[in-house]
Amino acid sequence: MALRLKDKLGRKFDEEIRFFKGWISNTKAVGAILPTSGITARRMASVIEPHSGRPVLELGPGTGVITKAILGRGVRPENLYSIEYSTDFYLHLKRSFEGVNFINGDAFDLDTTLGDARDTTFDCVISAVPLLNFPMSRRVALIEDLLARLPVGRPVVQISYGPMSPVVAMPGRYIIQHLDFVVRNIPPAQLWIYRRTH
Ligand SMILES: C[S@@+](CC[C@H](N)C(=O)[O-])C[C@H]1O[C@@H](n2cnc3c(N)ncnc32)[C@H](O)[C@@H]1O
Repeated sequence: MALRLKDKLGRKFDEEIRFFKGWISNTKAVGAILPTSGITARRMASVIEPHSGRPVLELGPGTGVITKAILGRGVRPENLYSIEYSTDFYLHLKRSFEGVNFINGDAFDLDTTLGDARDTTFDCVISAVPLLNFPMSRRVALIEDLLARLPVGRPVVQISYGPMSPVVAMPGRYIIQHLDFVVRNIPPAQLWIYRRTH
């Protein structure tokens, strides 16, 4: 029992060190202090419709906490596409989650990054890309690009750490909903949803 706890704590620590190293080498791209908490990750993954038959698109998986929660919802690994910019994180993710379609590339250039999967209609998008580090015009363009890859009404879920939606309202183009404020996350996290209505 004590050994199992030690092992678990060891793995968690390892994850945090890996995260911290990625953060030091590229603070702008990582944009958070510690890995997302399991509670936050499960809340984000709760929007998935596992029986839709459509793949899920994940952006900025980092250490894989949210990836694990997505698979925990019953999504088959081959039905998950996950895009990570950092090659260090990408290599670690490939080793940790067999069968998931990890792509080492840029979420802001999805037609190139998705390659043969560029025309896929996804069930939803679960994103931890640090949007606040990018100009507003690029954030809006990303959300609209993502929504065009989903059926009308299906969500893009985005984690952020400011009090407001990281993407401004664009009346008539998409709606914004506040999904949750998760205190058990360092720092406390805001979860936002974006959807098309037509
Ligand atoms: C806040 S961290 C995500 C933390 C992750 N949820 C975890 O718990 O480990 C943001 C992640 O987005 C990745 N990222 C940043 N810019 C990106 C981009 N343009 N395309 C894809 N991933 C990106 C970073 O490398 C980092 O892994």
